[in-house]
Amino acid sequence: MGAFSHEITIIGSLKKTLLKNRIMKYKRFLITSALPYANGPVHIGHLAGVYVPSDIYVRYLRQLGKDVKFICGSDEHGVPITIKAKNEGITPQDVVDRYHVMNKESFNKFGISFDIYSRTSNKVHHETASEFFTELYNKGEFTEQTSEQYYDEERKQFLADRYIKGTCPKCSYDEAYGDQCEQCGTSLSPMELINPYSTISGNKPIKKETTHWYLPLDKYEPTLRKWILEDHKEWKPNVYGQCKSWLDDGLRPRAVTRDLDWGVPVPVKGGEGKVLYVWFDAPIGYISATKELTPDWEKYWKDKETKLVHFIGKDNIVFHCIIFPAMLNKADGYILPDNVPANEFLNLEGNKISTSRNWAVWLHEYLEEFPGKEDVLRYTLTANMPETKDNDFSWADFQARNNNELVAIFGNFVNRALVLTQKYYGGKVPQPGEYTQFDKETIEIYQTARQKVEHALEHYKFREALREAMNLARLGNKYLADTEPWKVVKTDEERTKTIMYISLQISAALTSLLEPFIPFSATKLAKMLNTDVKWQEIGNMDLLQPGHQINKPELLFEKIEDTQVEAQRKKLQDTKKANEVAAKELPEAKEEITFDDFLKMDIRVGTILEAEKVAKTKKLLKMKVDTGIDQRTVVSGIAEFFEPEKIVGQQVSILINLAPRKIRGIESQGMILMAENPDGTLRFIQPGEQTVNGSTIN
Ligand code: 2FM
Ligand code: ZN
Repeated sequence: MGAFSHEITIIGSLKKTLLKNRIMKYKRFLITSALPYANGPVHIGHLAGVYVPSDIYVRYLRQLGKDVKFICGSDEHGVPITIKAKNEGITPQDVVDRYHVMNKESFNKFGISFDIYSRTSNKVHHETASEFFTELYNKGEFTEQTSEQYYDEERKQFLADRYIKGTCPKCSYDEAYGDQCEQCGTSLSPMELINPYSTISGNKPIKKETTHWYLPLDKYEPTLRKWILEDHKEWKPNVYGQCKSWLDDGLRPRAVTRDLDWGVPVPVKGGEGKVLYVWFDAPIGYISATKELTPDWEKYWKDKETKLVHFIGKDNIVFHCIIFPAMLNKADGYILPDNVPANEFLNLEGNKISTSRNWAVWLHEYLEEFPGKEDVLRYTLTANMPETKDNDFSWADFQARNNNELVAIFGNFVNRALVLTQKYYGGKVPQPGEYTQFDKETIEIYQTARQKVEHALEHYKFREALREAMNLARLGNKYLADTEPWKVVKTDEERTKTIMYISLQISAALTSLLEPFIPFSATKLAKMLNTDVKWQEIGNMDLLQPGHQINKPELLFEKIEDTQVEAQRKKLQDTKKANEVAAKELPEAKEEITFDDFLKMDIRVGTILEAEKVAKTKKLLKMKVDTGIDQRTVVSGIAEFFEPEKIVGQQVSILINLAPRKIRGIESQGMILMAENPDGTLRFIQPGEQTVNGSTIN
């Protein structure tokens, strides 16, 4: 085979590059994904920001044969969970039980291949977090401070974080939380809020003294500054930049306990009635989950030959890059993260994803509405991953990525390669002949694919990695289109065999190269090809030997129709409308009137008999209405909202004893009653069912 000598050079240079890279340095890998709060379902923003990239990375490491543990679980503490429980009249445990199961299942169905999906309400975690706190406490790391905090006198409760709301001092948003303003993103302390009120009782809180333990981040600042700004210049610019701005702002001591009854109880004297701050215990959840997973957990947390990587969203950066490392550093023997490749946020159809406004694509709903299409979402979210800036998910893009890339490129290529192999050779890989110049060029590009993907993955550039992997499918697709074996077969059987052989090697390589990104489809393809390609073999020209029997091909992807994405867009429009209704500011109630005042109004059911626009006006509509008593003319300023021909025949409510009035020279003899929609359009007040004209309304 003519290409072999060339292959050797490429593999040689590949080895050199691999030796240099950071992955080779480590003996084992501990990969964590942010523990999502178990107070709601997970959505596409979670997948794109954290779970798909971490899963791709882990699947890649596993293919390399690395010793890797992939850790996640539910974050089950924190104030929002207790608020949700109160609102629903259930316990916080009920809330987390519901969402833990639900989210675990969603991740599992999307192929997010955690080695463990634990939870922070369990015993191991409570013990681990408790011991961790005690260790730092015994070492004298915490400072104890008594300060005034807001207190709800009626409920006899301190108001931590989200139990208090008020006006943001930065942007004047009047629903800012005690720990953060969701409008401008500023992180706040409750004392900074203007006009604070308790979210439990609505009352104005009083100030009351309470004692808490603080992590003196100010003391650790020089160490953290060196560790991040000097030793980790390779961190992503968005992560590095956020850390730098925190450090430049100056770190302050941070309270690590709260006056609450839901969480890990503070295990030291004076801690009665208090729990650990959720952001103190949650990252320790990574440690407890590892403990639960393996008795060897210390190897993963306390050995310098372990590479620790935290996958998170951008709102978690300070906790994973500053606070948790400071905690780890002060406890005995822990390693620090080698990298924290945080992503930015994913928007949905141009708007910020919001749980409270139901502006999201929920994973459990997607799984029901697009069964078997988990890879399509994984693919779209990776191709559009918000790696360096916020990015947008749109259903149009989702459809296009599926139809134009997965179906038309990858699916089309492998399907043709497999179907033709069945047709010409009964599914047996043919013996190739001499390679042409074009074959050699194609093989040369094929042999660089793995290196390109690896380089991107090792720098946490998942979009680029996917693009490079798909470029191999593109190469195969183009190779078949250019060589046209279906024509050549009529004149040159030997040449056809070579073409098919090359196409099959590329198809086999794709089972491994695309597996981190679209594991379900890649595995399906591997089964059809009856093979199990190792990552290191990608690029070889003998992945499938002549004579190897492949299985019957099936389609890997199917087209997504317009109707499917339209239904999704309609769902979002409905959400938008519902939000507008909920957010609409209603005019204040009018002055009181007497019953007699009310009785003076004579409102009847009438039918519109005729309707036409009043000439030379934009807004006026002239209607003839049958009131049951008579037929009369009504002029109304509603022409923008109704087409005259569509309203003829409709029953409406009409005030018939309103004094007539001339409008544009036409006498209007009554008023048709309207309700205003949230968007300012109008609709008639109509009887629920057809009734007799002239029926009274009172
Ligand atoms: O932002 C969140 O959803 C947090 N629950 C993430 C916690 S990550 C880790 F520290 F547990
Ligand atoms: Zn604000």
